Amino acid sequence: MDPASETWLDLDLTDPAAFVDNDPHAYWRVVRARAPVHWRPGVGRRPGFWVVARHADVRAAYSDHESLISSRGTVLDVLLRGEDSAGGRMLAVTDRPRHPALRRVLGRAFSPRVLDEVVRAVRARTDRLVAAVARGAEFDFAADVADRVPMNTICDLLSIPDGDRPALLRWNKAALSSDGAQVDPYGAVEARNEIVRYLTELARARRARPGDDVISAIAAAEVRGRRLPLEDVALNCYSLVLGGDESSRVSAICAVKALAEHPGQWRALRDGGVGLDTAVEEVLRWATPAMHFARTAARDVVIGGRQVRAGDVVTLWNTSANDDEAVFDRPRRFDLGRTPNRHLSLGHGAHFCLGAFLGRAELRALLAALRESVAEVDLRGEPTPIHSTFLRGYSALPVSFTPRRTPRATGAAGAAVGA
Ligand code: HEM
Repeated sequence: MDPASETWLDLDLTDPAAFVDNDPHAYWRVVRARAPVHWRPGVGRRPGFWVVARHADVRAAYSDHESLISSRGTVLDVLLRGEDSAGGRMLAVTDRPRHPALRRVLGRAFSPRVLDEVVRAVRARTDRLVAAVARGAEFDFAADVADRVPMNTICDLLSIPDGDRPALLRWNKAALSSDGAQVDPYGAVEARNEIVRYLTELARARRARPGDDVISAIAAAEVRGRRLPLEDVALNCYSLVLGGDESSRVSAICAVKALAEHPGQWRALRDGGVGLDTAVEEVLRWATPAMHFARTAARDVVIGGRQVRAGDVVTLWNTSANDDEAVFDRPRRFDLGRTPNRHLSLGHGAHFCLGAFLGRAELRALLAALRESVAEVDLRGEPTPIHSTFLRGYSALPVSFTPRRTPRATGAAGAAVGA
């Protein structure tokens, strides 16, 4: 579609190919200027929804968790089909008063003691994987590196047996996104059921014989005076898999693609001209893996001057907010030294990403490993885009890494998915 045309604003946001076939940045620039908060009418039995595009409005909406609730669902696809079946039970789709109580329990999974160990394993695994591919030959960064870090990290956190990890990764990919153009909603539901069934059995075993792991901790914890049903333990472990795998994987792939496309920024990173902290934040902004999150209005509320009615679905577009000229200087410049960088890639407010520390640590480990083992990053073919209304990124990225002449010694890593 042509950004100058009258029909541009009608781009179908429920089409998984919308931002494969069209440039999201050109699209959202027009929306922010012409219709920053607007209503998309329903089609047939499918309800309509609000679109919120400016940074200030998206941020304010994330903060207003009294008016804009999560328990009906937080992803457009799910909300247009009905309600999220995990609503009120899985952290991301609960509201007050249950949400803060559940968040305290899950937060224990992220204690400094647990995280220290997990982050050490992330660094060792990433160093080893990057050193193994830095040989100058073509490889797929997604399959050979990115697929193997986040899921192993979350599996370490949950103490998932090594042999079960590849199946979990496969189901999670099927549940969330599609590698090809053919989207299979029934396959996605089945994959999600498989994950919950698997985790329920694990929760049952760990409740009977607790270990020193996060599933056992959640299985034993009380939320508002009662132990969680086993399926809720499983759903909340699944929420860590859901949150912890795809967005981190997609961010890592996007980081390498962006570095290959911006050789000046790559050199600045490699030669120490920019620090890892600002670089991680810019990669998160640039990638914005979760294009939107959604809410339902619990009461009438005004957003950006428009009257939203109780019951309306409201979509908050991170992709657009992170590109907003009112907040970011030259937003289409990939600038690893950018500061301040108030991106919304990790959300904002009560539901701010629980795994933010871990997500950032994974990206930091990747950038550090590249800096130490790689001299040049080159694209060797077309990346394969993900078809999804929720995630934006790539599922395959053919590249080559020219090794540095004196790579540093790498540590031994734990067992890795498919490694
Ligand atoms: C929530 C993004 C990594 C677990 C969120 C939200 C965003 C987000 C935008 C807010 C959702 C909302 O407001 O409805 C990301 C990105 C990541 C990442 C871009 C990687 C770069 C992780 C990791 C984990 C995780 C590594 C777990 C280990 C969660 C959970 C929530 C969440 C459990 C729900 C929090 C709540 O509702 O209180 N994430 N995330 N995320 N994330 Fe992440």
